[in-house]
Amino acid sequence: MKTAQPSLWMGLMDATARPGMGLRERLCAALRDAMRNGMLSQGARLPATRVLAHDLALSRVTVEAAYAQLEAEGYVQRRTGHGSFVAVQASAAPVAAKRRSKAAPLVPQAVLSQRGQGMVNTGGCMEPLQLQAFAAGSPDLRAFPHTLWRQLTNKRLRHAPEALMRYGDPQGRADLREAIAQYLVSSRGVRCSAAQVLVLTSSQQALQLLATLLLDPGDRVWLEDPGYRGARTAFAASGAQLVPLPVDAQGLVPDFTLPAPKLIYLTPTHQYPTGGTLSLQRRMALVDYAQRQGCWIVEDDYDSEFLYDGRPTPSLQGLDDGGRVVYIGTFSKTLFPSLRMAYAVLPEALVQPMVTARSVYDGHVAQLAQAVTADFMAHGHFAAHLRLMRQLYRSRRDLLLDLIDRKLPWAQPLNSTGGLQISVTLPPGSEATLTRQAAERGIATPSLSALHSKPGAVDGWLLGFAALQPQEIEAGVTGLAQLKPR
Ligand SMILES: Cc1ncc(COP(=O)(O)O)c(C=O)c1O
Repeated sequence: MKTAQPSLWMGLMDATARPGMGLRERLCAALRDAMRNGMLSQGARLPATRVLAHDLALSRVTVEAAYAQLEAEGYVQRRTGHGSFVAVQASAAPVAAKRRSKAAPLVPQAVLSQRGQGMVNTGGCMEPLQLQAFAAGSPDLRAFPHTLWRQLTNKRLRHAPEALMRYGDPQGRADLREAIAQYLVSSRGVRCSAAQVLVLTSSQQALQLLATLLLDPGDRVWLEDPGYRGARTAFAASGAQLVPLPVDAQGLVPDFTLPAPKLIYLTPTHQYPTGGTLSLQRRMALVDYAQRQGCWIVEDDYDSEFLYDGRPTPSLQGLDDGGRVVYIGTFSKTLFPSLRMAYAVLPEALVQPMVTARSVYDGHVAQLAQAVTADFMAHGHFAAHLRLMRQLYRSRRDLLLDLIDRKLPWAQPLNSTGGLQISVTLPPGSEATLTRQAAERGIATPSLSALHSKPGAVDGWLLGFAALQPQEIEAGVTGLAQLKPR
């Protein structure tokens, strides 16, 4: 970047500031804005953290944390020894510069609705765009059966392609819903028929639709703390009052003396991000409580396919005979994230409202992708792919655990019996420093503390391993072994 004047940066930070935002968030918002409106173009170099910190009279840790967040969101790419670069293309023509005058705001301001502003204030949620050690949450896309997928796609396109080009059922194709229902009944102990399955673009869409349909502003939502940011943003955006509840080795610790919530969100099979499994006793107590109080439970079963030790616990939904549990799952981890396909299993009373709400939002998932996924499942390829990936990821999990044990004495793994990433805790107060040192070496170390309702409560990282080949894991840990916690 041709470095902007300090006063310009301050102006930008003021223009994008919202009540309640901290300095790091304000800086992130200003930089995001500058990238979106073309003031910072793709490939432009951002000022060095030291320079920007000096110009804005901020601490370098704040600027470093802002850059690390933008990197995790995919806005910025950081190259060791070279600097930080804009990774995204402007979404609008760079009109801001032309309109700027002393009297006018630097960036044209949209007046948002209260709901819209609440949504923007959540900061949104972006997944990493690049393959990088140890970006979290991605399956191995290099190990995906691309040839087979192509053959299935071609086959579908050869026979009656025009049928796949029409509008489709907003609930999802019948063949795919049947395949999903069969898989969930046999592998996850879900009690359902295809009539209860809704095909969506993502778990995130399921959360957003549920929040819109079920919650009024101020309604209480119980969430795990630490917990999944996507859920937090979806419920916060609907104006709900978030009630974070602690987790222990057995998952969410419910507190039934609290005022009753409208909805409880949890990841019972593999708590995100601590890895615990909700005990049967707590499952039964929660289902019983939800039935008595008439509240909803949203079970996010996002990565239960990847359990490496022991047997997977059947779904919580399978314990519910009162129609209070919504089960959601995604193909983002089991197939590939850009497929944009997930599913919800709905209690009967919610099927029609959710299908209608879905049609208001976006209609349906692309028919071709649904048809190919249905074939992939019905012909046994899905089960075979999961078996293979489980073996592959287990060996990578073992390798990463062994390397952490031998080379990173300051990192303590939490429960790591499954999933695509390992959570580790770090010495108190060291996360920001270690993250900065890792970023300087081109290593992403997603923050564990950011997943707590009180940032800084626990220092730690989520280290994604599933997408990395053994030599990439080894090189990453070798880089981390050079960091100095103090
Ligand atoms: C707990 C949890 N739920 C859902 C998802 C993502 O699912 P989707 O891509 O379908 O929104 C993730 C991704 O990391 C996750 O960690």
